[in-house]
Amino acid sequence: MARTTAEQVRTALATAFADCWCGDAGGIDAVARYAITAPGKLLRPRLLCHTALALGGRMATAVPAAVGLEAAHVGSLVHDDIIDHDTVRRRRPAVHKAFGVETAIIAGNALYFSWFAALDECGRNGATDRQIAAATRVQARTGAAVCRGAAAELSMAGSFRHDISAYVTMAQGKTGALMACACHIGAIMADASSELAGAARRYGESLGLAFQIRDDLLPYTAPRSMGKPRDSDLRNRRPTLPVLLGMKMADAAQRQTLEEILTDPEHGGRTQLRDLLEASGALDAADAMAAEHLVCARDELRHFPGGPHRDELHRLATV
Ligand code: IPE
Ligand code: IPE
Ligand code: MG
Repeated sequence: MARTTAEQVRTALATAFADCWCGDAGGIDAVARYAITAPGKLLRPRLLCHTALALGGRMATAVPAAVGLEAAHVGSLVHDDIIDHDTVRRRRPAVHKAFGVETAIIAGNALYFSWFAALDECGRNGATDRQIAAATRVQARTGAAVCRGAAAELSMAGSFRHDISAYVTMAQGKTGALMACACHIGAIMADASSELAGAARRYGESLGLAFQIRDDLLPYTAPRSMGKPRDSDLRNRRPTLPVLLGMKMADAAQRQTLEEILTDPEHGGRTQLRDLLEASGALDAADAMAAEHLVCARDELRHFPGGPHRDELHRLATV
């Protein structure tokens, strides 16, 4: 049976990942390799490749850019686990747990820089200087947006009465920006028109927002841990979307209990919090918001030429 386009992209990415971070077996390369070869969903590199291929690009220029993007994502996870005091990532000890905080900070930085080095390989595989310059600009802007989102998240921690719009702005930076970037770089590698690149960006941004909302829901809805701690958001007093909606939708008595649990996790646990969020309708409302953003993402694909890669992007915004 012919391999599907999704399998082809996954295989090309797996081959590329097998070859990276092999230079320095005892040093920082080995730490980066530990982080990046732990099995993740590879959503961002898949988005980049399918966008490039949907818009007429080639695997040879998309794959190195996609590997670089995943390295940046993994670097952000390495640092995120330090910030969130989380000790498990992708079902194994977090990098700071396995190698120490200092080494994890350096490995995260090394992973970020490799994002830019990867563009050199795109050039060797046929990307033009203009494409590389455009991709460099997008990556640099994205890095700054992700940092702004992460900083906003920190400044919002501990308070649970933020406007939903503040949450959306924060999540757009923290998560949406990198997914928008994945699709934008895919469009750049395909030399797509600015209209198509804009549609690709908006698709990625909406998908990213939906994805972050679903990630916020995982502690309450996932049947198992998904390879990372389920108590992280509560322990770190994060005003995630279900919590913000719960504070708005709950009745007075529920709101008081919610506030007690949120400000003092010793007071009650994730299970009691889940029951309250469910009873107030907040879990369903958050899920509905994620679904709305997925509709927006799929809608942007109407600008794309039809074909199996567009179908895969559509599928990624459906599940
Ligand atoms: C985790 O991203 C960080 C968030 C933005 C929620 P993923 O859920 O894509 O993590 P991996 O790459 O599969 O480990
Ligand atoms: C993920 O933050 C966003 C970044 C890594 C910048 P989260 O804290 O929400 O993600 P998880 O749940 O740890 O994967
Ligand atoms: Mg985290």
